[in-house]
Amino acid sequence: MDLTDGLELPCGARLKNRVVKAAMSEGLADRQDHATQAHCRLYETWARGGAGLLITGNVMVDRRYLERPGNVVLEDESGMSMLRAWAAAGTREEAHLWMQLSHPGRQCPKLVSKEPLAPSAVQLDLLGNFARPRAMAEEDIEAAIERFGKTASLAQQAGFTGVQINAAHGYLISQFLSPKVNRRDDRWGGILANRARLLLRVVARIRQEVGAHFPISVKLNAADFQRGGFDLEDSCQCALWLADAGVDLLEVSGGDFEHLRLLGYRGDPGTAEDPDVASGAVKAGCFTDYALAIANALKGAGKAMHLMVTGGFRTREAMERVLALGGIDLVGLGRPFCATPDLARKLLRGECVPIDLHGPLQAGGALHRWLMRFKTYRVLRVQGEVAWHARQLAKLAHGRDPEGASSLALALVKHMAADMVHAGRRKPPVSAQVSGMAN
Ligand SMILES: Cc1cc2nc3c(=O)[nH]c(=O)nc-3n(C[C@H](O)[C@H](O)[C@H](O)COP(=O)(O)O)c2cc1C
Repeated sequence: MDLTDGLELPCGARLKNRVVKAAMSEGLADRQDHATQAHCRLYETWARGGAGLLITGNVMVDRRYLERPGNVVLEDESGMSMLRAWAAAGTREEAHLWMQLSHPGRQCPKLVSKEPLAPSAVQLDLLGNFARPRAMAEEDIEAAIERFGKTASLAQQAGFTGVQINAAHGYLISQFLSPKVNRRDDRWGGILANRARLLLRVVARIRQEVGAHFPISVKLNAADFQRGGFDLEDSCQCALWLADAGVDLLEVSGGDFEHLRLLGYRGDPGTAEDPDVASGAVKAGCFTDYALAIANALKGAGKAMHLMVTGGFRTREAMERVLALGGIDLVGLGRPFCATPDLARKLLRGECVPIDLHGPLQAGGALHRWLMRFKTYRVLRVQGEVAWHARQLAKLAHGRDPEGASSLALALVKHMAADMVHAGRRKPPVSAQVSGMAN
């Protein structure tokens, strides 16, 4: 199997090749949390860059709870014309454009909400950025399921060619899956079948809305890498259920805000974690072994579902090796697309692309390794990396070139300032104010 091969999904949709631009939060929404021209420019650039599938960053299903100010919110018909333009731009050259649907749960910054929701009132302790959440009542859970269905339906109407449910990285659905965060003793907590109920109900609700021929994907952690958390065995079982539920594509990732495997960091909480992006191990992908275990579980149970693995791919050889193993159908890339928007075309043509994450990320040395023992440094360091990439996205979206070797610290300061400005300027559309945002 080759990166250039097409892929037919169970719902009948066809991807033109095996390279996927993974979800990356854009932070480009306007004051009303609607999509903007900047989304159109960014996604047109990526679509023309040759990837078979582009997945949007988190699009939030509830205006009250964002992953970050600047997220697009889709909960009603307001903002549909720009959403259509975004969908048209991102599907140029027969690229697929799928909207990632998300609810942050407790990973909603204080800037946005002083009382986020979560399965249980277990606070995220990250430099005081997140408030103590309120445990969701049964009505909150049912309302969230409805919201995922509504947002999926609006995405379909706007011309997006699929949806992805973000059930990874410690967001709401991932919180329900985690026994560490989900301490409930009702039908939404306890055994895995209960913890996975929200995920499966959301999938079913969306399928009901979008029909049989529209792609539905789920992004799931292979594990959250927390002791006593959601582990690989849980993930394999969820994959079997998702296959039964008619999910077209499972994207395998891992980690959360507390444990940052998703960006290639390793080690247990409290111990040193190194960004291994330049090492041989991560060049083969951070989650390949985990995705293969899931593929084997599916095969062993006689179930078929397409799999994609994302995280740490930096060479064409590693991507092709993974596809050649069998069982993994697509390779997802995030950060490399920020600095090289036509990365997919280059990969597909067989050009030797140096997938460079640009200076800051490869910084290392003894001081850095020592500092990585301290949680505050680790968190700031990783937030700096995310900020640096988010800034490159914003530059592309505004028609400018990536900024190369600017410092992570500067990127972080600018990123935080931009989030504060966004949060201060937000002005929900009248429709949301009138409806009172009931649940
Ligand atoms: C700036 C930035 C924003 C991200 N936003 C999202 C997001 O909205 N949803 C999501 O599922 N993952 C998000 N991710 C994670 C990526 O999809 C991907 O899993 C991660 O970057 C690892 O892949 P990579 O090594 O190819 O970058 C984000 C990553 C970065 C760097």
